[in-house]
Amino acid sequence: MLTELAAHDNASDPEPFAGPDHPIRQLTRAVAFGKEWKPEHAERMSTLFNELAPEWSNDHVDATKAAPVRDALQRGDVPMAGNWLEVGSGTGAGARVLDAQVRSLVCTDLSAGMLSHAPDLAPRAQSDASALPFAGGAFDAVLLINMLLFPHEINRVLRPGGTVLWVNTLGDQTPIHLPPADVLDALPGKWAGTTARAGTGFWLTARRA
Ligand SMILES: C[S@@+](CC[C@H](N)C(=O)[O-])C[C@H]1O[C@@H](n2cnc3c(N)ncnc32)[C@H](O)[C@@H]1O
Repeated sequence: MLTELAAHDNASDPEPFAGPDHPIRQLTRAVAFGKEWKPEHAERMSTLFNELAPEWSNDHVDATKAAPVRDALQRGDVPMAGNWLEVGSGTGAGARVLDAQVRSLVCTDLSAGMLSHAPDLAPRAQSDASALPFAGGAFDAVLLINMLLFPHEINRVLRPGGTVLWVNTLGDQTPIHLPPADVLDALPGKWAGTTARAGTGFWLTARRA
Protein backbone atom coordinates (compact mmCIF):
# COMPACT_ATOMS: atom_id res chain seq x y z
CA MET A 1 0.00 0.00 0.00
CA LEU A 2 1.28 3.47 -0.90
CA THR A 3 -0.04 6.64 0.77
CA GLU A 4 0.65 9.98 -0.91
CA LEU A 5 0.77 13.06 1.33
CA ALA A 6 0.15 16.57 0.01
CA ALA A 7 3.13 18.11 -1.73
CA HIS A 8 5.27 20.39 0.44
CA ASP A 9 4.81 24.15 -0.21
CA ASN A 10 8.33 24.24 -1.69
CA ALA A 11 7.59 21.51 -4.28
CA SER A 12 8.13 22.34 -7.96
CA ASP A 13 8.60 20.38 -11.16
CA PRO A 14 12.21 19.55 -12.10
CA GLU A 15 13.65 20.81 -15.40
CA PRO A 16 13.89 18.03 -18.01
CA PHE A 17 17.17 16.19 -17.36
CA ALA A 18 17.16 12.38 -17.65
CA GLY A 19 14.30 10.63 -19.41
CA PRO A 20 13.30 6.98 -19.36
CA ASP A 21 15.92 6.04 -21.98
CA HIS A 22 18.86 7.28 -19.93
CA PRO A 23 21.34 4.36 -19.60
CA ILE A 24 21.69 4.79 -15.85
CA ARG A 25 17.90 4.71 -15.56
CA GLN A 26 17.89 1.33 -17.25
CA LEU A 27 20.69 0.04 -15.02
CA THR A 28 18.81 1.27 -11.94
CA ARG A 29 15.72 -0.71 -12.89
CA ALA A 30 17.71 -3.80 -13.84
CA VAL A 31 19.61 -3.83 -10.53
CA ALA A 32 16.46 -3.29 -8.45
CA PHE A 33 14.68 -6.14 -10.18
CA GLY A 34 17.46 -8.71 -9.90
CA LYS A 35 19.93 -8.30 -12.77
CA GLU A 36 23.36 -9.51 -11.77
CA TRP A 37 25.67 -6.69 -10.60
CA LYS A 38 29.03 -7.46 -12.14
CA PRO A 39 32.53 -6.20 -11.30
CA GLU A 40 32.55 -4.19 -14.53
CA HIS A 41 29.41 -2.32 -13.39
CA ALA A 42 31.12 -1.42 -10.11
CA GLU A 43 34.29 -0.41 -11.94
CA ARG A 44 32.36 1.87 -14.34
CA MET A 45 30.36 3.52 -11.52
CA SER A 46 33.38 4.04 -9.35
CA THR A 47 35.40 5.57 -12.22
CA LEU A 48 32.50 7.87 -13.15
CA PHE A 49 31.95 9.16 -9.61
CA ASN A 50 35.65 9.44 -8.79
CA GLU A 51 35.84 11.83 -11.77
CA LEU A 52 32.74 13.78 -10.72
CA ALA A 53 33.73 13.93 -7.04
CA PRO A 54 35.74 17.21 -6.90
CA GLU A 55 32.82 19.29 -8.29
CA TRP A 56 29.92 17.18 -6.98
CA SER A 57 29.06 19.29 -3.92
CA ASN A 58 29.19 22.55 -5.91
CA ASP A 59 26.98 21.18 -8.67
CA HIS A 60 24.59 18.87 -6.80
CA VAL A 61 24.36 19.64 -3.08
CA ASP A 62 22.02 22.52 -2.22
CA ALA A 63 18.89 23.42 -0.27
CA THR A 64 16.50 22.41 -3.05
CA LYS A 65 18.06 18.95 -3.26
CA ALA A 66 18.00 18.67 0.56
CA ALA A 67 14.29 19.58 0.69
CA PRO A 68 12.89 16.03 0.30
CA VAL A 69 15.12 14.66 3.09
CA ARG A 70 14.19 17.54 5.39
CA ASP A 71 10.50 17.01 4.67
CA ALA A 72 10.76 13.25 5.26
CA LEU A 73 12.35 13.89 8.66
CA GLN A 74 9.40 16.12 9.54
CA ARG A 75 6.46 14.24 8.02
CA GLY A 76 7.72 10.73 7.26
CA ASP A 77 7.50 9.21 10.75
CA VAL A 78 11.16 8.13 10.56
CA PRO A 79 13.12 6.81 13.59
CA MET A 80 14.98 9.98 14.60
CA ALA A 81 16.30 8.23 17.73
CA GLY A 82 17.63 5.33 15.65
CA ASN A 83 20.87 4.18 14.07
CA TRP A 84 21.02 5.21 10.41
CA LEU A 85 23.00 4.02 7.41
CA GLU A 86 23.33 6.16 4.28
CA VAL A 87 24.14 4.09 1.19
CA GLY A 88 25.62 5.86 -1.83
CA SER A 89 26.35 8.77 0.48
CA GLY A 90 28.55 10.59 -2.02
CA THR A 91 29.94 13.89 -0.75
CA GLY A 92 27.61 14.01 2.26
CA ALA A 93 24.31 15.37 0.94
CA GLY A 94 22.41 13.23 3.43
CA ALA A 95 24.85 13.61 6.31
CA ARG A 96 24.56 17.40 6.12
CA VAL A 97 20.80 17.07 6.81
CA LEU A 98 20.85 14.16 9.27
CA ASP A 99 23.83 15.48 11.27
CA ALA A 100 22.93 15.84 14.96
CA GLN A 101 19.29 14.94 14.24
CA VAL A 102 19.51 11.14 14.47
CA ARG A 103 21.16 8.99 17.14
CA SER A 104 23.94 7.71 14.88
CA LEU A 105 24.84 7.72 11.20
CA VAL A 106 27.27 5.67 9.13
CA CYS A 107 27.92 6.62 5.50
CA THR A 108 29.06 4.25 2.77
CA ASP A 109 29.82 4.68 -0.92
CA LEU A 110 31.56 2.76 -3.69
CA SER A 111 33.60 5.78 -4.77
CA ALA A 112 36.61 6.61 -2.60
CA GLY A 113 36.74 9.96 -4.42
CA MET A 114 33.19 10.92 -3.40
CA LEU A 115 33.85 9.88 0.21
CA SER A 116 37.07 11.91 0.30
CA HIS A 117 35.08 15.07 -0.56
CA ALA A 118 32.46 14.49 2.18
CA PRO A 119 32.54 16.56 5.37
CA ASP A 120 33.71 14.80 8.51
CA LEU A 121 30.23 14.48 10.03
CA ALA A 122 29.88 10.69 10.29
CA PRO A 123 32.04 7.57 9.92
CA ARG A 124 32.57 6.82 6.22
CA ALA A 125 33.23 3.35 4.77
CA GLN A 126 34.06 2.50 1.18
CA SER A 127 31.92 -0.44 0.03
CA ASP A 128 29.87 -1.82 -2.81
CA ALA A 129 26.20 -1.81 -1.78
CA SER A 130 25.69 -5.16 -3.50
CA ALA A 131 27.54 -6.68 -0.51
CA LEU A 132 27.39 -4.28 2.43
CA PRO A 133 30.00 -4.82 5.19
CA PHE A 134 27.44 -4.58 8.01
CA ALA A 135 25.69 -7.18 10.18
CA GLY A 136 22.10 -8.15 9.46
CA GLY A 137 19.57 -6.01 11.31
CA ALA A 138 22.21 -3.44 12.29
CA PHE A 139 20.23 -0.32 11.36
CA ASP A 140 16.88 1.27 12.20
CA ALA A 141 16.84 3.24 8.94
CA VAL A 142 18.63 3.26 5.61
CA LEU A 143 18.77 6.43 3.49
CA LEU A 144 19.35 6.35 -0.27
CA ILE A 145 19.48 9.63 -2.20
CA ASN A 146 19.71 9.15 -5.96
CA MET A 147 21.35 5.78 -5.33
CA LEU A 148 20.90 2.34 -6.88
CA LEU A 149 18.58 0.02 -4.92
CA PHE A 150 20.06 -3.36 -3.97
CA PRO A 151 16.84 -4.58 -2.33
CA HIS A 152 18.12 -7.74 -0.63
CA GLU A 153 21.10 -6.01 0.97
CA ILE A 154 19.00 -3.09 2.18
CA ASN A 155 16.46 -5.51 3.62
CA ARG A 156 19.24 -7.57 5.27
CA VAL A 157 20.93 -4.70 7.13
CA LEU A 158 17.62 -3.21 8.30
CA ARG A 159 16.22 -4.36 11.64
CA PRO A 160 12.71 -5.87 11.54
CA GLY A 161 10.31 -2.93 11.33
CA GLY A 162 13.08 -0.64 10.10
CA THR A 163 12.59 2.18 7.59
CA VAL A 164 13.93 2.68 4.08
CA LEU A 165 14.06 6.36 3.08
CA TRP A 166 14.31 6.63 -0.71
CA VAL A 167 14.83 10.08 -2.25
CA ASN A 168 15.03 11.25 -5.86
CA THR A 169 15.98 14.92 -5.82
CA LEU A 170 14.90 15.53 -9.43
CA GLY A 171 11.82 13.33 -9.27
CA ASP A 172 11.37 11.33 -12.47
CA GLN A 173 14.16 13.36 -14.11
CA THR A 174 16.76 11.82 -11.76
CA PRO A 175 19.11 9.48 -13.67
CA ILE A 176 19.04 6.94 -10.79
CA HIS A 177 15.24 6.95 -10.51
CA LEU A 178 12.60 4.50 -9.45
CA PRO A 179 9.05 5.61 -8.70
CA PRO A 180 7.78 4.85 -5.18
CA ALA A 181 5.54 1.95 -6.20
CA ASP A 182 8.48 0.22 -7.93
CA VAL A 183 10.69 0.59 -4.84
CA LEU A 184 7.98 -1.14 -2.77
CA ASP A 185 7.70 -3.90 -5.40
CA ALA A 186 11.46 -4.42 -5.61
CA LEU A 187 11.97 -4.85 -1.84
CA PRO A 188 11.59 -8.50 -0.75
CA GLY A 189 8.24 -9.31 0.89
CA LYS A 190 5.34 -6.91 1.39
CA TRP A 191 6.06 -3.26 2.16
CA ALA A 192 3.90 -0.21 2.84
CA GLY A 193 5.02 3.27 1.89
CA THR A 194 4.33 6.96 2.36
CA THR A 195 5.49 9.47 -0.24
CA ALA A 196 5.38 13.21 -0.89
CA ARG A 197 6.91 15.75 -3.26
CA ALA A 198 9.30 18.36 -1.86
CA GLY A 199 11.84 20.63 -3.56
CA THR A 200 12.22 19.36 -7.13
CA GLY A 201 11.96 15.74 -6.01
CA PHE A 202 10.15 13.32 -3.76
CA TRP A 203 10.72 11.07 -0.78
CA LEU A 204 9.37 7.64 0.07
CA THR A 205 9.45 5.93 3.43
CA ALA A 206 8.95 2.17 3.28
CA ARG A 207 8.35 -0.35 6.07
CA ARG A 208 7.48 -4.03 5.97
CA ALA A 209 3.68 -4.31 5.85
C1 LIG B 1 24.02 10.22 -8.06
S1 LIG B 1 25.27 9.98 -6.85
C2 LIG B 1 24.41 10.52 -5.37
C3 LIG B 1 25.35 10.87 -4.25
C4 LIG B 1 24.66 11.45 -3.02
N1 LIG B 1 23.71 10.51 -2.47
C5 LIG B 1 23.99 12.74 -3.35
O1 LIG B 1 22.73 12.77 -3.37
O2 LIG B 1 24.67 13.75 -3.59
C6 LIG B 1 25.27 8.21 -6.69
C7 LIG B 1 26.25 7.72 -5.64
O3 LIG B 1 26.10 6.32 -5.52
C8 LIG B 1 27.37 5.71 -5.45
N2 LIG B 1 27.25 4.33 -5.92
C9 LIG B 1 26.96 3.89 -7.16
N3 LIG B 1 26.95 2.55 -7.19
C10 LIG B 1 27.23 2.14 -5.93
C11 LIG B 1 27.36 0.87 -5.32
N4 LIG B 1 27.21 -0.26 -6.02
N5 LIG B 1 27.64 0.80 -4.01
C12 LIG B 1 27.80 1.94 -3.27
N6 LIG B 1 27.69 3.18 -3.80
C13 LIG B 1 27.42 3.28 -5.11
C14 LIG B 1 28.23 6.58 -6.34
O4 LIG B 1 29.62 6.43 -6.08
C15 LIG B 1 27.70 7.97 -6.03
O5 LIG B 1 28.37 8.56 -4.93
